[in-house]
Amino acid sequence: MAAYSKGLEGVVAAQTKLSFIDGEKGVLEYIGIPIGDLATHSTFEETVFFLWNGRLPKKSELSDFESSLRARYEIPKGVEDLLHTLPKTAEPMHAVRTLVSSLGLHDPKPNAIDIPSLRDKALSILAQVPTLLAYFHNYRQGKALVRPDKSMGLAENFLYMLNGKKPTAAMTKAMDVCLVLHADHGFNNSTFTARVLISTESDIYSAITGAIGSLRGPLHGGANEGVMKMLNQIPTVADCEKFIQDKLAKKDKIPGFGHRIYKAYDPRATHLKVLAKQLAQDTGNMPLFEKSTAIEAVMNREKAAKGIYPNVDFYSATTYHCIGLPLDLFTPSFVIARAGGWSAHCIEQLSDNRLFRPDADYTGPHAVAYVGIDKR
Ligand SMILES: CC(C)(COP(=O)(O)OP(=O)(O)OC[C@H]1O[C@@H](n2cnc3c(N)ncnc32)[C@H](O)[C@@H]1OP(=O)(O)O)[C@@H](O)C(=O)NCCC(=O)NCCS
Repeated sequence: MAAYSKGLEGVVAAQTKLSFIDGEKGVLEYIGIPIGDLATHSTFEETVFFLWNGRLPKKSELSDFESSLRARYEIPKGVEDLLHTLPKTAEPMHAVRTLVSSLGLHDPKPNAIDIPSLRDKALSILAQVPTLLAYFHNYRQGKALVRPDKSMGLAENFLYMLNGKKPTAAMTKAMDVCLVLHADHGFNNSTFTARVLISTESDIYSAITGAIGSLRGPLHGGANEGVMKMLNQIPTVADCEKFIQDKLAKKDKIPGFGHRIYKAYDPRATHLKVLAKQLAQDTGNMPLFEKSTAIEAVMNREKAAKGIYPNVDFYSATTYHCIGLPLDLFTPSFVIARAGGWSAHCIEQLSDNRLFRPDADYTGPHAVAYVGIDKR
């Protein structure tokens, strides 16, 4: 039996061609292209095509892909009915998990896992996650549902459905860049969850639903909400030092810092920091950005020697806030991006599948006498 590694740290569980991470050097590539180049030049739709096909699309292929996505923005009527039965107080992550699962109930062939079927279902899920989230947000506010606008790309349409008005080009671009940066990231917990689930030859709805459950944890995708809550708790830039020192003295973890793989600056955070600054300037949120950099300065002094730097969640909090997303839609927005990455991993897993079934190191007793219920 291979050596036990708590949390599977350092264990290679499968091969992938999708994303490459060098945690020591702070490198992230999707199929060889540095993440910064994709964030600068690509779009979310193009990035997802790239992840699903292993190559960048030609113009006509991209436009076909975008058209197919737009044609699927609307959700099945039965799912919309279900949405109207959910408690308005439900957390959006719980709501989207339930609603994605319910999409499978309205698919006449939910179990089809041949690669063309998988891609087809993934396309619908990708197109509909933003609609599910926006509809749930409309519904819980007691407002009429803002129907998707097929003339818009995925990021623009999402913001439009949330707020009922067309976002500015700058907001659309910022949302789109966030989606590109969050689309894939090696064998993170939710991606691994999706691959474990699909490796049983279960269905893609189960795989994505399970992955959403994984992503909502505060040690994973939930950290961006933790960052925002922390920023809200700190009154001014001058209070950052004491706030962080007090937390570190109590051995609390600072949300948005540290990473299992990166022991250098997370390259996504590099990009998000620039984006957050620009958006904060444009939207009158510089105090928020300045609090973030003040926290980073304290953490840099205290923890950089241990390889603890801002991760993707740290500056995405300020970015999402400036885009105007409500706090509890930060992590759900991550679901939109990862729906692209998770699906790519399901396709890759089933293209050369082997059931995930690790061993456990049993540490309990042996040959224990059974004691009858009356004698316990
Ligand atoms: C992401 C995370 C779970 C990685 O955890 P991990 O690889 O299991 O690392 P550990 O939790 O074992 O931490 C290793 C050391 O760094 C410290 N550390 C890690 N993250 C820290 C943080 N955010 N703040 C302060 N100290 C931190 C730990 O206290 C530990 O110190 P010790 O060796 O003195 O005990 C962890 O860094 C964390 O909880 N970060 C905050 C949540 C977050 O931002 N998650 C999003 C990740 S993208």
